[in-house]
Amino acid sequence: MNAPSTLQLRHLLGLEELSAEQITALLDMAAQMKAVNQRRIKKLPTLRGVTVLTFFVENSTRTKMSFELAAKRLSADTMGFSASTSSLSKGETLLDTARNLEAMAPDIVVIRHSSSGAPRFLSERIGCGIVNAGDGAHEHPTQGLLDLYTMRDKLGDLRGRKVAIIGDIAHSRVARSNLHGLHKLGADVHVAGPATMLPPGVHALGCTVHARVEPAIDGADVVMMLRIQRERQGNDLIPHAHEYHRFFGLDAARLQLAQPHALVMHPGPMNRGVEIAPEVADGAQSVILEQVENGVAVRMAVLYAVAATRGLESQGA
Ligand code: NCD
Repeated sequence: MNAPSTLQLRHLLGLEELSAEQITALLDMAAQMKAVNQRRIKKLPTLRGVTVLTFFVENSTRTKMSFELAAKRLSADTMGFSASTSSLSKGETLLDTARNLEAMAPDIVVIRHSSSGAPRFLSERIGCGIVNAGDGAHEHPTQGLLDLYTMRDKLGDLRGRKVAIIGDIAHSRVARSNLHGLHKLGADVHVAGPATMLPPGVHALGCTVHARVEPAIDGADVVMMLRIQRERQGNDLIPHAHEYHRFFGLDAARLQLAQPHALVMHPGPMNRGVEIAPEVADGAQSVILEQVENGVAVRMAVLYAVAATRGLESQGA
């Protein structure tokens, strides 16, 4: 497998930094990886001898497993490391921890951190490739890419497609990565949520902002629902979960406003009965589990692109 020359990717810090061509090249490569994942033996020798360290300083289920699986399917050696079992809880600074990790000579570090900018901070100070697996409320680029992949796979070219992103936009790194990516690929993005969850200046990211969900969902090709990020909010910004559901949740009646072929998406973890009704989460239009499946292929493409840019892929593979 060869990485196209447009795809020089020493790190993946955010979709804000990528061009439309780089995003498209990554999605094309992910399609090849998905074909590998559908074989009986889901493995390529491409990253033999490459060490990938997953450094998760914030909880994760899907993303960490997905990256570990992606690395293993490319034959890389992986090692996982999470906050609760590390010396970070003993007061060590991020930079000291990172220097110690670097001393063990990994090739790529996949990092999730509660501080926005932590992956960039590391990329400027240590020599290995850094892949952002979610930093605070800033970006979650591989989630953005897997969402774009899923939309493109189902709908084709995203230019002019109406995508509604509903919920806690202000605290969501998933929303921010999607906004950057969708804007670059020419989609027509609409966001809606309670006023307390719409960041000032969000329209500067190239989207239309609505106070109510109905105009956002009206005629949409994609309806993406987001969880309320209580862990990132200083105060409770909504009165009650059931009230939130009544005004901002996606149920079958609201989904009727969208195109009949509209995709229902959610990055997980879902709060059923809050942002999304079970009948919709499990309904015929939901592609939520396909998002998870595509996530492995997208992360394989990202790890491969970073390794290839650094000249690490194994010859002849
Ligand atoms: C998201 C995250 O961690 O940002 N989850 C994920 O990676 N699939 C979204 C969330 O926590 O709500």
